Amino acid sequence: MAFELVCPDQAPAPLIAPVALAPSAFAIRDEAPSDVDARESLLDDAFGPARFLKTCQRLRVGSVPAPGLALVATDNDGALIGTLRLWPVRAGGRAALLLGPLAVAAEHRALGIGRALIEESLARAAELGHRAVLLVGDAPYYARFGFERRFTERLTMPGPVERARFLGLELVGGALNGAQGRVLPAFAPALDLPQAA
Ligand SMILES: CC(C)(COP(=O)(O)OP(=O)(O)OC[C@H]1O[C@@H](n2cnc3c(N)ncnc32)[C@H](O)[C@@H]1OP(=O)(O)O)[C@@H](O)C(=O)NCCC(=O)NCCS
Repeated sequence: MAFELVCPDQAPAPLIAPVALAPSAFAIRDEAPSDVDARESLLDDAFGPARFLKTCQRLRVGSVPAPGLALVATDNDGALIGTLRLWPVRAGGRAALLLGPLAVAAEHRALGIGRALIEESLARAAELGHRAVLLVGDAPYYARFGFERRFTERLTMPGPVERARFLGLELVGGALNGAQGRVLPAFAPALDLPQAA
């Protein structure tokens, strides 16, 4: 449907296509048990079944998100439109968090919901005393939050990842200084011991 834009003191403006209305409000809150089905459906839509094959998934299977760091975004009607969880890991012997998966419903993207989820999670993580965050994702997106490749250069993931997408962020300066070795679930035994000569 087209509509006419009326400008009282000027000649009538041409007919133009309708544009998106102002962004609707959204809210960020802790994920609840009742959110699981909607969250999984959103992740299926965003990533498809291949999401279960990602290397990051190996660090999440059998684990639970860090307390206070499983977040959802909801729309005005309370429907779940965004999800983000952070997981406790060991990164070359250092305590860290693994961020992801992050997804926003397709019809609600580019409205700042992904940014709000990340900023809220990072603020909470810092308040909770976490020191560093890792992720595997699109560097052009995550760079705006301070994630950098240099923090992960001496770390390895427990499976294949594109090195350019393996990023880190220090919540406490120097938290990843010298971090070297395998990223493991936080509660796994330390298997990345130096090899005997
Ligand atoms: C990535 C995603 C979570 C971003 O959420 P969002 O709510 O749309 O993001 P925001 O509104 O906070 O930010 C939008 C900005 O990010 C940019 N952006 C979005 N996805 C991007 C990507 N993959 N790479 C680079 N920039 C990206 C947009 O172009 C926009 O840029 P602008 O601010 O200059 O206009 C969302 O697009 C999504 O769910 N994608 C599918 C799943 C996915 O790829 N998850 C991330 C895994 S790496």
